[in-house]
Amino acid sequence: MADVVLKNIRKSFGSVDIIKGVDLEINDGEFTVFVGPSGCGKSTLLRMIAGLEDISSGDMIIGDKVVNALPPKDRSVAMVFQSYAIFPHMTVRENIGFGLTIAKTPKAEKDLKVQEAARILQMEHLLDRRPSQLSGGQRQRVAIGRAITRKPEVFLFDEPLSNLDAALRMDMRMEIGKLHHQLGATMIYVTHDQVEAMTLADKIVVLKDGEVMQAGAPMDLYHHPKNLFVAGFLGAPSMNFAVVNVEKIEGDQITVKNDAIAETTVHVQGRSFTVGTKATLGLRPQYLSIADERDSCMMGTIVLTERLGSETILNIKLSDGSTMIAAIADDQIFKIGQSVGLTFDADRAHLFDELPSASDAAH
Ligand SMILES: Nc1ncnc2c1ncn2[C@@H]1O[C@H](COP(=O)(O)OP(=O)(O)OP(=O)(O)O)[C@@H](O)[C@H]1O
Ligand SMILES: [Mg+2]
Repeated sequence: MADVVLKNIRKSFGSVDIIKGVDLEINDGEFTVFVGPSGCGKSTLLRMIAGLEDISSGDMIIGDKVVNALPPKDRSVAMVFQSYAIFPHMTVRENIGFGLTIAKTPKAEKDLKVQEAARILQMEHLLDRRPSQLSGGQRQRVAIGRAITRKPEVFLFDEPLSNLDAALRMDMRMEIGKLHHQLGATMIYVTHDQVEAMTLADKIVVLKDGEVMQAGAPMDLYHHPKNLFVAGFLGAPSMNFAVVNVEKIEGDQITVKNDAIAETTVHVQGRSFTVGTKATLGLRPQYLSIADERDSCMMGTIVLTERLGSETILNIKLSDGSTMIAAIADDQIFKIGQSVGLTFDADRAHLFDELPSASDAAH
């Protein structure tokens, strides 16, 4: 197993800078997830770790070796892609053993390794089938099986489950979690799926435009986002942002309000504010609740309701024309056009010293 360290890694395609100085330490055995908007450089970064893409500058270290100049086969990494990359004319057994065949591994050893991978992935009974006789999830397991037989120190997954339907994704997500537990290997995983990121990761790395916005444990990022981008990116539905005026500051107690939101005091550490300036109040939809008018700190009109069974999502237009999304527990019936009061727990509110831009809007 191995640590993976990126030191000021940069990548340009022609004159376009795509990866703009990434520093990252991924510990041995850690499950790290890269998330970020489409085009931010997740696949490029993964391909650079794999050796499939040159590094423009910086150092890539796997284990204790600088691997900048090493070809993929000498890096002890195995990559699993979104498209299964398995051969239709080969059986599952041949597909799983393909890397070993190429490496001219003796037959007995190859059979043993294929058998072992099939056992881990619970597909021993499928070894003689061809890909056309498999489900999508089973096909992806074949690709993972091929990666396992190579006994890599580092597994790289680029959105391996995104072609699967929701139920299968959930099964496969749990299988990948188990696989990580069983093999104890370092794994780096790219996904667009929040749930995959939050549940699988020891560490989430949020990327934007080729830069790391924040890296840390999932709950650290969720509860203590460093900036508006991370705050808006993690969590579904996204955090609400309201531009507010800073009214009063007492130590780390900051009192804010705006035309729609009554005066509220938020406890903030590590950011500084100035009375009379604007700031952004961040409220997660789950922490908003319905209140009587006299107990509420904002009033609005329901413009849309989504009943999901376990929760009810309300889209509420406030008196100043801005929108709040509230996620109310359980199945509750609200009417469009209904007027409601909202309140929130100030301890769960965030206050940022920056104002929202278009890219911080809901994802
Ligand atoms: N070979 C290439 N030549 C030029 N530009 C490239 C090349 N490969 C990637 N890019 C550009 O680099 C940027 C990052 O691409 P990358 O595939 O890493 O994004 P991503 O974060 O994986 O996106 P997605 O979530 O859509 O998969 C994009 O703007 C892309 O157009
Ligand atoms: Mg990609």
